[in-house]
Amino acid sequence: MYHGLPLEYVLSAAETEQIQEALAGLRDSSPTPAQPAFYDRHWDAAAHLPPRLRGFLEHFRRTEPAAALVIHGFPVDDAAVGATPAHWADVPVDGPPLDQELFLAMVGTALGDPFTFSTLQLGRVVQNLLPIRGDELRQSGHGSECLLEFHTEDGFHPGRCDYLLLFGMRNDERVPTIVASVRDVKISDETADLLRTPRFLIRPDDEHVRQLQERHPGHPALAGMLRMQSDPEPVPVLSGDRERPYLRVDYPFMTCAGQDGAAQRALDELMEELERVQLDVVVDQGSLAVVDNYVAVHGRRPFRAAHDGRDRWLKRMIVSRDLRKTTPHASPGAARVLF
Ligand SMILES: [Fe+2]
Repeated sequence: MYHGLPLEYVLSAAETEQIQEALAGLRDSSPTPAQPAFYDRHWDAAAHLPPRLRGFLEHFRRTEPAAALVIHGFPVDDAAVGATPAHWADVPVDGPPLDQELFLAMVGTALGDPFTFSTLQLGRVVQNLLPIRGDELRQSGHGSECLLEFHTEDGFHPGRCDYLLLFGMRNDERVPTIVASVRDVKISDETADLLRTPRFLIRPDDEHVRQLQERHPGHPALAGMLRMQSDPEPVPVLSGDRERPYLRVDYPFMTCAGQDGAAQRALDELMEELERVQLDVVVDQGSLAVVDNYVAVHGRRPFRAAHDGRDRWLKRMIVSRDLRKTTPHASPGAARVLF
């Protein structure tokens, strides 16, 4: 069986009811799930999830049985959530939280610590992925007409997330997310050896730099991102146990240190293998997908946006198993916000 094949979980009616009862206690919360302080206050939000679902998430966390999981069946009242916004900035950060955001927060706290980068969507923890007019060809969650190529989420950063969570608010055309597990690829020992040495440069993707340049050109995080862009530290692509490796890759933003032809060939071989073992995962309305960001790369197939309020709309969250990984990249007392 493919390691990339997601584990599936279908919420029962009784479980959905139990979750919605627990949500009632969080709906009036200030801060909201978009704000980092929400998770400081409601760090135990996961305690209210049904035990069977908590066990499922804990098994995924502890044993790495698959590259991804999908939880199906959380209700989305299509009329109540409104039209797909035209831009992420149109979604108010302190408005009443949607139940779907609270559910995402509960699942996020079951897997670890939700966090964010100050450079993306002004540091919101729950972010909105939707097609933005003018961004059709960008390598980001706001593109549409181009293939979003395989990448590790925030692969350039030592504090990249362990888990990427995507909740489907709307996906009428069932545009697939694509996932490939490093544990399905077949490469030679020689190639693996090359990929395990620090010969690769991964630069921050455009989105981190562009959003700050446009909105906060004086933000201190911008200088850090520009430094990572101009002077990236060489890193290995593969790490961990040889039988159960982890990977870190973002091909469109990568080069090999010192024009290393052998390293480049090894990277190309790995990318070809990831293509071969890729699987479609449709994040339907009401589904929550969790991608293991250490064992899988993900991307998205191209689609045509209509900009009519019915476009694909996902809520996104990133979760760390250990915020100590990122201490040098966060202010004291604000461990959930990296810059
Ligand atoms: Fe991504």
